[in-house]
Amino acid sequence: MGEIQIKNTLQGLENKYIKRELKDSNESKEQLFIQLDRNENNFGFSKQVPGAINQAISESYIYTNVFGEPLRTELAHYHQVLPDNILVGNGSFELISLIAQVFLDSTSISLTATPTFAWYRAASLLVGAKVKEIALKEHAFPLRQLIEQVDSDVKLIWLCNPNNPTGTYFSYHELNDFLKEIPENSLVVVDEAYIDFVTTNENYSVAKLIHKYKKLIILRTFSKIHGLAGLRVGYALADNSIIEQLFSFKIPPNTNRLALAAARTSLKDRTHYQYVQQAVNVEKKYYYDELSKRQIRFIPSVANFIMINFELDSEEVVAFFQTNHLLVRGGKEYGYDQWVRVTIGKHSENERFFKVLDQLIDRVKVKK
Ligand SMILES: Cc1ncc(COP(=O)(O)O)c(C=O)c1O
Repeated sequence: MGEIQIKNTLQGLENKYIKRELKDSNESKEQLFIQLDRNENNFGFSKQVPGAINQAISESYIYTNVFGEPLRTELAHYHQVLPDNILVGNGSFELISLIAQVFLDSTSISLTATPTFAWYRAASLLVGAKVKEIALKEHAFPLRQLIEQVDSDVKLIWLCNPNNPTGTYFSYHELNDFLKEIPENSLVVVDEAYIDFVTTNENYSVAKLIHKYKKLIILRTFSKIHGLAGLRVGYALADNSIIEQLFSFKIPPNTNRLALAAARTSLKDRTHYQYVQQAVNVEKKYYYDELSKRQIRFIPSVANFIMINFELDSEEVVAFFQTNHLLVRGGKEYGYDQWVRVTIGKHSENERFFKVLDQLIDRVKVKK
């Protein structure tokens, strides 16, 4: 008897990220290693989160509200939209998959840039759509080039803003100009997972564009600045007609009580939000200064991670850091062969990063 195989359309397209996670997964490692490889928020969550979770435990025998209430209404206030404009999900991963399931089929093209967040591609392939990827321009989302690719088969366009892994950003006005040129039958998803780290006024303003463009879906998450990656809450903002279509096909109880309670509490704790935003910026400047001192190139980033060019095979760099108990993400899988993406951690973690980096530099000098 032959082996059970994944369906033909997915053969050879397995997600490299997941493969790497399988290889790396090991509890003791998570405890021993400094993790600067997954863009988590190492500054952690609001101090008020544990109390909120504790309170919510007693009601855990009851399913959550299918709309994610009362979080949904609180998010509506926060973004100055209506609750009908919001769909609460089990992290943005779930929402990306759901959007692909609801709007794409085997006749559709899903358009995005490369490199960007890999799940847009995986979610599109899973539902049989074709994926067209346009190279970044100067490490940034190539909005103009994407417009040139749009035809009636392009049903979905995925934009990542700020872009993971490059940390580059496009403004409200650039997005508005882009949306003006996209036909009404192509949906545009703007994934704003890292937008909270942008410290200009731009970081709150794009939500209001959902009133202007029915084709726009914005994704947000509690995994990054709120530090709740392990609890799984994300949400989509869009015109109520889009939200209704997505809602009809989502898993009804898709969130859990503890996560909803944590997210509600975190949303209210502006002090923690600002603390993380500021701490990441201070630490990012530390990276810029230390890298510049060593004449190492990097891409200036508006997010909580930074791409660094080591002018060495990125797999070797990752392995060197790993033997020194520090996890960073190699760029090879995205075609950035000599680049490594590093999440901005706490000061002691970042100091450790530069200690290991100096050992790497010494080793390379000796080899030469
Ligand atoms: C751009 C981007 N979108 C979405 C996600 C996933 O977010 P969530 O934890 O809400 O599923 C990530 C995770 O790293 C990401 O980098």
